[in-house]
Amino acid sequence: MRVAVIGLGNAGSTLHLPALKGIPGIEAVGMDIDSARREKAAAAFGVPVFADFDEMLAKARPDVVMVGTPPGSHADYCLRSFAAGAHVICEKPFVSSLAEADRVIAAAKAAGKRVALNHEFREMPIFRAVRDAVDSRDTGGLVFAQVWQLMDLPPWAEPGWRGQMLQRTLYEAGVHLVDFLIALFGERPIAVDARTSTCGVREGETDAVALVTLEFSRGRLAQITQNRLCKGETQYFEVRADTERASVRASFGGRARLLAGLFRSNRPSLRLEYGVSGMAWRERAGKREFLGRNPKDPGMVATRYVIERTLKAFKDGTEPPASGEAGRDVLAVIAAAYRSAATGQRVHIDDALLAAMHNTQLG
Ligand SMILES: NC(=O)c1ccc[n+]([C@@H]2O[C@H](COP(=O)([O-])OP(=O)(O)OC[C@H]3O[C@@H](n4cnc5c(N)ncnc54)[C@H](O)[C@@H]3O)[C@@H](O)[C@H]2O)c1
Repeated sequence: MRVAVIGLGNAGSTLHLPALKGIPGIEAVGMDIDSARREKAAAAFGVPVFADFDEMLAKARPDVVMVGTPPGSHADYCLRSFAAGAHVICEKPFVSSLAEADRVIAAAKAAGKRVALNHEFREMPIFRAVRDAVDSRDTGGLVFAQVWQLMDLPPWAEPGWRGQMLQRTLYEAGVHLVDFLIALFGERPIAVDARTSTCGVREGETDAVALVTLEFSRGRLAQITQNRLCKGETQYFEVRADTERASVRASFGGRARLLAGLFRSNRPSLRLEYGVSGMAWRERAGKREFLGRNPKDPGMVATRYVIERTLKAFKDGTEPPASGEAGRDVLAVIAAAYRSAATGQRVHIDDALLAAMHNTQLG
């Protein structure tokens, strides 16, 4: 299978090309408008590289195009790929509006091609372990979930195209959090209530802090906290999923620690925690049970898993891990959250709202 990687920056050279390298039977090529990025990728991965997309299409004739450029160019590359007879695996965030998402999904159908997303976090061992524990039902049904992300990286401190986005935190970095909650609850939320702010640190409307409450069926709730003003330790992706009988946790990022003592309890305890890139566990009151840990380089490993499963789905006509429709659902929730933050109102995600937000630009 011939796969073209478009955009040889962070995603292209730390996720897509290394992931493809480990999949048998793949012939990869790269394309980027930046000559330094092309040279670096060609040297590191030994792949042919192109400066022009149409030249790449004509010479490499890819079966699948992986789009890993900044989000504003995703829709255009998707449409041009279908026209050239290729399926697409697109990076998150899928596109810049619901109208673009519909155009891309419709164009894929019309061309007899497929579009899928690299929403790889939900497939990482620790997040998969949380989903499996919740689905197993021996903990009872899911009632509430919290996900949070803390770091000292406000939107205005980001270099390049990220720093130019007004809606950066939830739209670009929050996709994995929203996507994970949709996968965990197994449905799109019914409504959202959100606040975004720079918290007085700077004038302007960027979302350095984003707080979103999501309402799912049967009154179940979830809460997203993204805090890009945190001067403490980075916590890239933390989850607590509360079920009827247990609390299931995942913590992304390496840890190795031995804990001994009395911690919010009067019983002495001794605990060893080890996970090179994060771990998942189940808690029942003060008791913990290990569920899983991430491998080294979890983003690349999970991306490889998503690519393998997606290529198989393209071949078999089955569902990929994250379809274009799943990408559209995540965008709908994010657009609704920004609308809620702008109006100060709880927003019901129904057909009328989706029609009203159809052309709303994100990013
Ligand atoms: N799934 C994930 O975990 C993950 C991780 C990182 C980035 N991403 C996503 O991948 C995309 C790229 O992010 P990044 O961090 O790699 O950015 P980046 O800036 O590191 O790389 C983008 C690359 O695209 C190239 N480029 C820009 N415009 C182009 C165009 N029109 N045609 C061809 N090449 C072009 C740039 O020269 C650069 O090399 C974004 O949508 C981002 O959200 C996803």
